[in-house]
Amino acid sequence: MKISVIGTGYVGLVSGVCFAQMGNSVTCVDIDEKKIQDLKQGIIPIYEPGLEEMTLENYKNKTLDFTTNSYEAIKNSKIAFIAVGTPMGDDGSADLKYVLAVAKTIGEAIEDYMVIVDKSTVPVGTADKVQATIQAELDRRGVDIKFDVVSNPEFLKEGAAINDFMHPDRVVIGADSEKAMDVMKELYAPFMKRHESFIAMDIKSAEMTKYAANAMLATKISFMNEMSQICERVGADINKVRNGIGSDSRIGYSFIYPGCGYGGSCFPKDVQALAKTAKNFGYNPRILDAVEAVNLDQKYVISNKVISRFGENLDGKTFGVWGLSFKPETDDMREASSITIINELTRRGAKIVAYDPKARHEAESYYLKGNDKVSYADGKYDALKDADALILVTEWQEFRSPDFDEMKKLLKNAIFFDGRNQFSKEKMNKYGFEYFQIGVN
Ligand code: UDX
Repeated sequence: MKISVIGTGYVGLVSGVCFAQMGNSVTCVDIDEKKIQDLKQGIIPIYEPGLEEMTLENYKNKTLDFTTNSYEAIKNSKIAFIAVGTPMGDDGSADLKYVLAVAKTIGEAIEDYMVIVDKSTVPVGTADKVQATIQAELDRRGVDIKFDVVSNPEFLKEGAAINDFMHPDRVVIGADSEKAMDVMKELYAPFMKRHESFIAMDIKSAEMTKYAANAMLATKISFMNEMSQICERVGADINKVRNGIGSDSRIGYSFIYPGCGYGGSCFPKDVQALAKTAKNFGYNPRILDAVEAVNLDQKYVISNKVISRFGENLDGKTFGVWGLSFKPETDDMREASSITIINELTRRGAKIVAYDPKARHEAESYYLKGNDKVSYADGKYDALKDADALILVTEWQEFRSPDFDEMKKLLKNAIFFDGRNQFSKEKMNKYGFEYFQIGVN
């Protein structure tokens, strides 16, 4: 099938490349000329395992192309995916200006029946706006061309994006037309593990499904973070409590890991956007607001532990930080807890030596740019030389089995703040570390 994907961010690029991998003819569009030129040479703007190889292979095979000419790309395709950003506006709602600009171009370019797919995470009711924007352009052109807008939320996880897209747990399609639903069924058939993983519904329910999924997952995390706070106060161990509750199949083990807060491009933005939608419709979303509030506080838990241990004034202190990205296997630092933790400590005079396997460039060029108390190490042990303590923020695999003796030799004090509960307290104490984690005294 001939497909255009407008927007080469995380979701757009991964979707485009994976559709091409299945033999479709895909054109990925972006307004950023440099990004398009880079992509043609296999230079990928994000770090995502497997993406670079697959992009190069499909570009070479001519199943995948890149352009800044959205008009041409749309004109020549049967399906157009809208995968541009929906940044959070000042009031917490999703800003639709990019989505509706693409809809306008579609209205200008379309020549024959097409299916237009909302792939960006958009508030309930956006498909109606996309439909109206396209129709207004067609009316202006004075042409009568049929089209359908469908909603196809994306559930891929960063760091596992290719696998999630190629082998999805489910594909959710919201459509009000049988014809459009059939086109989507045909497109996704090769990706289906089981027949039931294709879930068809109306458009609004599909739009809502994405928010409900992310809000539920964020709720599980904030709930466990709240439990960890209670555990610390009553003298219980959240790691044991987590095992104790996860064994109940109704609760399950996934997404109940306490930590120094969730980040990323989805959870923080989507929880707030859904809360905003609820308020716009006259409902007070108490759970969503609490999920967000608990998460904001959780980002300060580690810096607060450092302050209780070393005092308010951190002049002359140096901390090694392991991990900057919001989670492992990505260089993405959007809403990463590392930003809050590092800024809290440097604000009090501390110096930071940070190491991250992939996100250093993001930190240096944007997220921690201008913070001259932060320097960067080339390896995990280099970050520890003469540091007053180690702070682990992101659970990259290379931090799982470090050489504890080497760490102790390098650190000024054997003090370790673990924001992701990677080790047992007993084991760390045996190694001679003063070990702080989340939800354990
Ligand atoms: C998430 C959803 O999982 C995905 O389905 C959706 O399409 C986009 O949003 P992503 O943002 O890539 O994906 O990351 P995810 O692996 O879900 O982690 C999100 C955050 O939650 C990370 O900061 C992670 O550290 C944190 N987290 C996750 C916890 O703190 N505890 C957990 O138990 C799980």
